[in-house]
Amino acid sequence: MKVSYKDLGLVNTKEMFRQAFIGKFAIPAYNFNNMEQLQAIVSGCAESDSPFILQVSSGARKYANQTLLRYMAQGASELLKELNPHLKFALHLDHGDTLELCKSCIDTGFSSVMIDGSHHSFKDNVELTKKVVQYAHDHDVTVEGELGVLAGIEDDVVAAHSTYTRPEEVEEFVKKTGVDSLAISIGTSHGANKFKPAQCTKGPDGTLLPPPLRFDILEEVEKRIPGFPIVLHGASSVVAKYVDMINSSGGKIENAIGIPEEQLRKAARSAVCKINIDSDGRLALTAIIRKVFKDNPKEFDPRKYLGPARDELKAMIVAKNNNVLGSAGKGKIIFG
Ligand code: G3H
Ligand code: 13P
Ligand code: ZN
Repeated sequence: MKVSYKDLGLVNTKEMFRQAFIGKFAIPAYNFNNMEQLQAIVSGCAESDSPFILQVSSGARKYANQTLLRYMAQGASELLKELNPHLKFALHLDHGDTLELCKSCIDTGFSSVMIDGSHHSFKDNVELTKKVVQYAHDHDVTVEGELGVLAGIEDDVVAAHSTYTRPEEVEEFVKKTGVDSLAISIGTSHGANKFKPAQCTKGPDGTLLPPPLRFDILEEVEKRIPGFPIVLHGASSVVAKYVDMINSSGGKIENAIGIPEEQLRKAARSAVCKINIDSDGRLALTAIIRKVFKDNPKEFDPRKYLGPARDELKAMIVAKNNNVLGSAGKGKIIFG
């Protein structure tokens, strides 16, 4: 049965991005797959009065089940009314790869979709994205497109020059497709190993400093499509305390390097209106679960390890909204 996101109490990303651009902050897009992540995102954003995007990959949609997901989103919207009555959120498909998937999400309550045609030629990317935009806009759903390829977690080479977004393409892409926002590639990548140690320099305290993001590309993009909302994927900072906790509790996460928070904050002050965070949430959950099991090997009540993990994720989200996105306290401005 088809359902509109409006019937679930959700919003698309249009007004959020407009306000984020004006107010020089970014809307956090947190990925989720299960109830604990959903609880942490909703309660963390409610507490910090931050607008937010609940983000679901096609893998997460399969994992959670698409029917259940619709009711999870509706439940999240009801919970939010209790926790922070004026706040609203968008439900967004992350890295959609086909028109059929995007249509299916739109028909089951998503208020926003990403069509990631970045692995196609420019022409094919335009064609695919345009079709998604036509269907989405008929349903008042917003669309994120992508130009430039981010390195994946499985790739050997991270953000080689040829994968950066080419600023000279963005104007034509936006005009021809009608997208509402554009993901660009300026040196971020997915996962917990965004850079190789050899790419980094040593800071005064011995920590590894990754090469800076290509703000020059971002500035060039901003000049060509002034006022247009830009999206940053692969934006986890790979919080050291979680990596350390995992490794001291029997885990083995090696050479984990993320994007420094100051650079993300700088990006959030620019035309970047949406920042995607998944890996940091995964690391936070895994760190606490591992620690609970290490400290108490006899534990087998899921609430005793998923509960503290959920609470840590919530605390991480509150900190991100305050210190990285700059989105804390903006709920009343957008929806109040
Ligand atoms: O960009 C990818 C997201 O982190 C989602 O990852 O496809 O494993 O759910 P996933
Ligand atoms: P991270 O792997 O850096 O969290 O990026 C997540 C992302 O871009 C989801 O689309
Ligand atoms: Zn992504």
